[in-house]
Amino acid sequence: MTSSLGPIPIKSPFILAPMAGCTDLPFRLLCREYGAGLCYSEMIDCQGLVSRQQDCLELLPTNTSDQPVIMQLYGNDPGTMGEAAAILSEHPIAGIDINMGCPMEKIIQQGAGAALMKNPRLAEKIITAVCKKSTKPVTVKIRSGWNQHTITAPEIAKIAAGVGAQAIAIHARTWSDGFTGPIDHGVIQQIMKNVSIPVIANGDITSHEQGVALLKKIGCAGVMIGRAALGAPWIFSGTVNQHPSMAYRIKALLRHLELAEAYLTPEPNLSKIRNHAWKYFRGTTNGPVIRKQIDATTSYTELKTFIHTLADQVLQK
Ligand SMILES: Cc1cc2nc3c(=O)[nH]c(=O)nc-3n(C[C@H](O)[C@H](O)[C@H](O)COP(=O)(O)O)c2cc1C
Repeated sequence: MTSSLGPIPIKSPFILAPMAGCTDLPFRLLCREYGAGLCYSEMIDCQGLVSRQQDCLELLPTNTSDQPVIMQLYGNDPGTMGEAAAILSEHPIAGIDINMGCPMEKIIQQGAGAALMKNPRLAEKIITAVCKKSTKPVTVKIRSGWNQHTITAPEIAKIAAGVGAQAIAIHARTWSDGFTGPIDHGVIQQIMKNVSIPVIANGDITSHEQGVALLKKIGCAGVMIGRAALGAPWIFSGTVNQHPSMAYRIKALLRHLELAEAYLTPEPNLSKIRNHAWKYFRGTTNGPVIRKQIDATTSYTELKTFIHTLADQVLQK
């Protein structure tokens, strides 16, 4: 399946969602090996990027296999968001996304992330500033609104398209819904009627088949998958059994570890890698026991030895 997201050519409309602490370079590369057509980075604090903070700079690595990639910024100040967009534009990326969906307290308190869904005027200033300073296509990731009484997504999508955004991704829940409750496909369709730029649907897609069905049903430009891809990057493949064997899971995890060793410094990233490893055993009979053993590892070397021992046992059978 070949398609495009506005000016960004993509080989598949299946898109990896931005996830802080998860969608680093190794995980993006792994998802691509299974067919992800586009991957988003973790969110990057615009202020931290402008002041060249180490923790922000560490989110920037990418390479030629990691294409197309969209890097995501968050912030509440149009000027700083614009400056950060100019910095990101120097990097070999396909686009810059603006986070208007993060529900975390510390982000909301700044008036950033999902708080922008209740402040269309500030949202407009931020999107305008980023579009002006970016030499890359700009996308915006929104929620349905702030709460069920404040469904601002159609209005904000229109504003975004009007000031130059080239695609919209919508997690079709409000800020007050958090990560639970039904996904509002109606609001996605309403946005699609309101704007002529591509719209990406996001929220609760838990299998490849479900993604295909949604693409067919509403005709959106792409489907974005977050949580269901964690520990299950094969969700991007239309050919892999979506509930694979233990042996298959372990092989995928071993590949993940290989990529983590190649592109991260594993020891300081132990908890991040352990979190990923944990998720490969979701829904498996021995999962609870394996997860306890993963939790008990205190170094990357120990974690790797444990997974390799497990692989020897399982793959020999
Ligand atoms: C651990 C985690 C981290 C996330 N970090 C981000 C982020 O950095 N930026 C963002 O726009 N959304 C973030 N999200 C939201 C996801 O991109 C996505 O919109 C949401 O999980 C709904 O999609 P899903 O049901 O496929 O998971 C995060 C979600 C999770 C679970």
